[in-house]
Amino acid sequence: MHTDKFDPLIGNGSWINGRWVKSESKFPVINPATEQVVTALYEVTMEQAETAITSAEEAFRHWSQTTAQERSDILRRWYELLLTHIDALAELLTKEQGKPVGEAKAEIRYGADYIRWYSEECRRLYGETIPGPTQNKRIIVLRQPIGVTAAITPWNFPNAMIARKAAAAIAAGCTMVVKPSELTPLSALALAKLGQMAGLPDGVLQVLVGTDAEKIGEMLTTHPAIQALSFTGSTEVGRKLASRCGEHLKRVTLELGGNAPFIVFDDADLGVAVDGLMQAKFRNAGQTCICSNRVLVQDSILTPLLEKLHAKVKKLRVGDGLLEHTQIGPLIQPQACQKVAHLLDDASRKGAKITQFNETPPTHGYFCAPAIVTNVTPNMAIYREEIFGPVVAIMSFATEDEAIRLANDTQAGLAAYLYTQNPSRIWRMVDQLEYGMVGINDAAISNPAAPFGGIKASGFGREGSRHGLDEFTYLKYLSWGI
Ligand code: SIN
Repeated sequence: MHTDKFDPLIGNGSWINGRWVKSESKFPVINPATEQVVTALYEVTMEQAETAITSAEEAFRHWSQTTAQERSDILRRWYELLLTHIDALAELLTKEQGKPVGEAKAEIRYGADYIRWYSEECRRLYGETIPGPTQNKRIIVLRQPIGVTAAITPWNFPNAMIARKAAAAIAAGCTMVVKPSELTPLSALALAKLGQMAGLPDGVLQVLVGTDAEKIGEMLTTHPAIQALSFTGSTEVGRKLASRCGEHLKRVTLELGGNAPFIVFDDADLGVAVDGLMQAKFRNAGQTCICSNRVLVQDSILTPLLEKLHAKVKKLRVGDGLLEHTQIGPLIQPQACQKVAHLLDDASRKGAKITQFNETPPTHGYFCAPAIVTNVTPNMAIYREEIFGPVVAIMSFATEDEAIRLANDTQAGLAAYLYTQNPSRIWRMVDQLEYGMVGINDAAISNPAAPFGGIKASGFGREGSRHGLDEFTYLKYLSWGI
């Protein structure tokens, strides 16, 4: 499958100032389902990264002066182009990331929806007027674009995580330099090229591809022209980037790891709860920050819930995402499979019961069999760490107080799920759950109208909704004497 032929949608290197740039060395992009090289791209050099930032600075001068209507029209065309190219984009995404092509299409639509949302919301970048302290003074507040921004994005959603950051930044009148994961750079390049086709001026969106994440990250967090960084990824890396941004006084938005509790009470509709669990657990083979990580089930319904769950998990088809019937693709790298194996081994040694399904995956690729783990206890790594694989970890609880205590027993605070039909209980639980997002009888919590983000070690700032624009704007107050 290795092709070194030039694809106009992804070029062969970084996208800087409206063109593809070459360098001396290349790195391969590997298909995790086949372990074959999809293509090889030129590594960005530090000089090229510097050029990307300075040309983003130049582009900002013009872009920040465009009208909301102009930005809205371009964003809308970008959204439409993504949908026109959805088949090619989804195939590319599956080849570099592994998720089933149907899920890849859903991701393209999800990312495109952010672009459409911000094409509309950018016309509502309202300021305010405030009564002045004296008769001859008026106070006016404007929302201004913050300047050149940077984004460092993960491999689990190679398209949507960039789309939701870039759409908000560009809608606000900012320019953006993106460093996608070196594991999945192709979707990022295609997104930028389609942006140009939609009318984004050169320099408004730049994409730097390369394997030296440390060096590129350092430049994006220290360069004086960059005013804000939006990062999605691990808590460990987020902490380092945030500390460097702090030193250089840059604004930071962090969407970091989660450890989502999925709580099912005995008054829940069990069918709805199990469908929700399948969705929240197995999306992207369990590789999302909002995947249910610890399933907490009230003890009186544990047995019927497990029966329903087993019946569904055993039917999951693992395989190459390009094949029509695949529901669970490979994990991103061999290390990801090793981590899941380590979590299962640790849980088993500490007394958990493990049932694995579909244990003969394809001979090539980084596949991991779906599993259900019961009798999970807090001393197990699977309870403390993000699983990032197709494994359901289950424990039971007796009372509401115990459910809350277990749910909050983590440093993470991204998403939680709650299944019950008792409205009073819902309010009691929602008040106490230490999470930025709570799905109530609902597992599909991600959409552009909602403010996505966490608290505690899961980060800060919000993406999506009108609040997403706050990350890329600052308030300028006018004190007006009359
Ligand atoms: C993530 O895993 O970080 C993002 C998940 C989503 O946007 O739904």
